[in-house]
Amino acid sequence: MNRADAARWMAHAARIAWRGHGGAEPNPMVGCVIVAQGGRLVAEGHHRRCGGPHAEVEALRRAGSAARGATAVVTLEPCNHHGRTGPCSVALREAGVARVIYGCADPNPTAAGGAETLRRHGIDAEHVPHPDAARVTAPFLHRVRTGRPWVIAKWAESADGRIATRPGEPRWISGERSRAMVHRERSRVDALLTGMGTVMVDDPLLTVRGTRARRTPLRVVWAPRLGVPHDRAIVRTAREVPTMVAAPVEAISARVREADELRAHGIEVLAAADEGALLAELGRRGVATVLVEAGGGLVRPMVARGLVNAAWVFTAPHELGDAGPRSAAPMTAAELSRLDRAWTGRRGDDRVSLYLFPA
Ligand SMILES: NC(=O)c1ccc[n+]([C@@H]2O[C@H](COP(=O)([O-])OP(=O)(O)OC[C@H]3O[C@@H](n4cnc5c(N)ncnc54)[C@H](OP(=O)(O)O)[C@@H]3O)[C@@H](O)[C@H]2O)c1
Repeated sequence: MNRADAARWMAHAARIAWRGHGGAEPNPMVGCVIVAQGGRLVAEGHHRRCGGPHAEVEALRRAGSAARGATAVVTLEPCNHHGRTGPCSVALREAGVARVIYGCADPNPTAAGGAETLRRHGIDAEHVPHPDAARVTAPFLHRVRTGRPWVIAKWAESADGRIATRPGEPRWISGERSRAMVHRERSRVDALLTGMGTVMVDDPLLTVRGTRARRTPLRVVWAPRLGVPHDRAIVRTAREVPTMVAAPVEAISARVREADELRAHGIEVLAAADEGALLAELGRRGVATVLVEAGGGLVRPMVARGLVNAAWVFTAPHELGDAGPRSAAPMTAAELSRLDRAWTGRRGDDRVSLYLFPA
């Protein structure tokens, strides 16, 4: 397999890896393809769910004896440890794979060393970096490095960069298909974070609707001065859906009664110095992914402080006009253009792009 073929198969493995989003985390999303000598695809696999077989094992199972003498192209260095599943380095060796090409080295000290083990057993293991493999592994690398969840901001904007309509105008900016996609993304994350401006104006329910829920995301409101009215949908449904209100300790101690009332509604009130401290605490609790659905008041400072890793931007074809300072999208088109646009497509009349922030 030459370099160009290896790159092509790696891009394919990365595409497959994304299918694990919502199942694999907090493990990495990983994709693996087994390619026969001569370049025929034998089998493919991805890491579907945490605790389930790794991508290599899935692909090897499907390949059966056809794996003998083949090349395994995998987005992340095969693991070397006896976790919930056996080491992939052993599985690849036992299957008789001749060569392993991996796109990212494993930074996890307990899992790393897979390539070295393979080489010691006479299997040609080569690190061939590829941008698509790096993108799909980035959430995992970020968690290992920082202990914080992978944070995805999402917003729907008009053609002229507005995220809010004037009072009395229809609230939806993006189309039905975009909104369905947002519900699918919600169903894959561990937490949904919003700000007080959004709670006051939109009163969102922040639940997964119209799609199979892979996870039930925790709803989190960052409320720097508390003041969450009890008639908000999030408060009214807090007994059915896990809900948290986070605020600095000073705000909580200044409004003890309000905090107690929120608790009585079934809400956890968490003290966190700022948005970064909140994310660190969510990370400690095993939250791997957070989708931020808020306005610029919350998203902009988070971006400025390097707390946002990715952004889904839905751009509708129509213009809305200025509905005040809070109606401006969290980032301008010029700012977005400096980011890595990892994916772009269409949902109905809307353009959808996924941007990745520098690590
Ligand atoms: N199109 C979309 O995808 C989308 C998604 C979400 C929201 N939105 C729109 O974004 C707008 C809200 O954006 P935003 O930047 O204002 O809010 P936000 O990002 O949801 O929340 C942060 C803002 O909330 C304000 N805030 C804090 N405590 C508050 C309290 N007790 N009561 C009221 N506000 C409080 C803060 O402003 P101060 O500290 O200055 O008070 C802060 O800037 C809404 O019009 C909403 O419709 C659009």
